[in-house]
Parts: sequence; C-alpha cells; structure tokens
Amino acid sequence: MRSDLSKVLFTREQIQQRVREMGNEIAIVYADLEPGLTIVPILSGSIIFLADLIRELPMRMKIALIQLSTYPGATTTAQEPRVVTELSADVRGRHVLIVDDILDTGRTLRSVQSMIRDRGAATVRTAVLLSKPGKAPPEVTVDFVGFEIDDLFVVGYGLDFDDHYRNLPHIGVLRPELTR
Ligand code: IMP
Ligand code: MG
Repeated sequence: MRSDLSKVLFTREQIQQRVREMGNEIAIVYADLEPGLTIVPILSGSIIFLADLIRELPMRMKIALIQLSTYPGATTTAQEPRVVTELSADVRGRHVLIVDDILDTGRTLRSVQSMIRDRGAATVRTAVLLSKPGKAPPEVTVDFVGFEIDDLFVVGYGLDFDDHYRNLPHIGVLRPELTR
C-alpha cells in the first residue's frame, strides 16, 4: 500500500503528537460543562481519528454515530452528501462535538452542523484532523483543526479511496494515476 502513495505527509508519530495536543485543546473547552458532551463522529472516515482523540479526553461523554456518503464508489469528486445511517442518539440539550477526518468543500459539515442545530443541541462545535484551504462556504466553521493541507487527495489514518487505505498508519498523497 505504501507504494501507492506519491508522498507521506504525516507520519504515525506526527499524527499521534498532534492528536494529543488537540485533545488538550478540546478538554479545556469542555471542562466542567453541564449538561454533558456528545461526540458525533461522521462515519467512516473519522473512525481512527475518533478512537485516538477520545482516549485523550478525560471527561464523561456519549457517542452518537452518523454516516454520510459523499464519494460514492471510486471517485474523488464530491457529490451532495447523503445520510446513509441516521444519528444514533438524541442530541437535544447536549453539547455536541462533531468529529470528521477532513474539511474539503464543507458540504458534509454544513449538512451535519445544521442537522445537529435543528435537533436542539445546546452547543455545536467541530473538530477535523485535516483541512483543505479555501473551498468551504463561510457558514461552515471548524473549531479544532489538526493540520492544514494543500488541495490534494490524501488517504490513510481513516481516509479512503473507494474504501481502501483507511488502515494506513500515516497520511499520504495517493498517486494521481490511481484515482483515474
Ligand atoms: P466535504 O463534504 O467536501 O468537505 O468532504 C468531506 C468528506 O469527503 C470527508 O469526510 C472525507 O470522507 C471526504 N474527503 C474529502 N477530501 C478527501 C481526501 O483528500 N481524501 C479522502 N477523503 C476525502
Ligand atoms: Mg470518505
């Protein structure tokens, strides 16, 4: 799988270090908040980030899963997101932290953020591991960002191409000829 990458952007160690720092940033914001915190990870891309991030968070929390699909099949061109699996728990009155792997066009987060607000969450914040510049509309804001990256298609650490490469421990750029 490593040979399918043209470049490694972040090693396992660099990611681990940054996720730990993000955990500290998030823990400060949610210290002593009542009512409790519900983490809403967007499946499937966030699973590895989620697993590492929540183990850096010391507070009580619930987890409510949601699954969206933006890249059906073997494509790297985003479509309008579609809810594949409904939010698995009620978020009314809860402080919600949405967790996603990457902010790209912002369509996914725009739709999840407005859904969570409509369902009566007390507060809505968002954490993403990666952020690509410039494409997201201004109403889509993220509160915690791991790394800013260039506008390249990346895989690994949960990020996929056609559902492959999620298990790579590092994050890298997929060789462009493989996405054609
Ligand atoms: P957005 O809706 O365009 O912001 O895209 C967000 C979703 O698209 C993310 O949750 C990812 O699953 C996927 N995505 C965006 N960019 C990439 C990438 O470079 N590699 C893999 N998946 C990506
Ligand atoms: Mg994906």
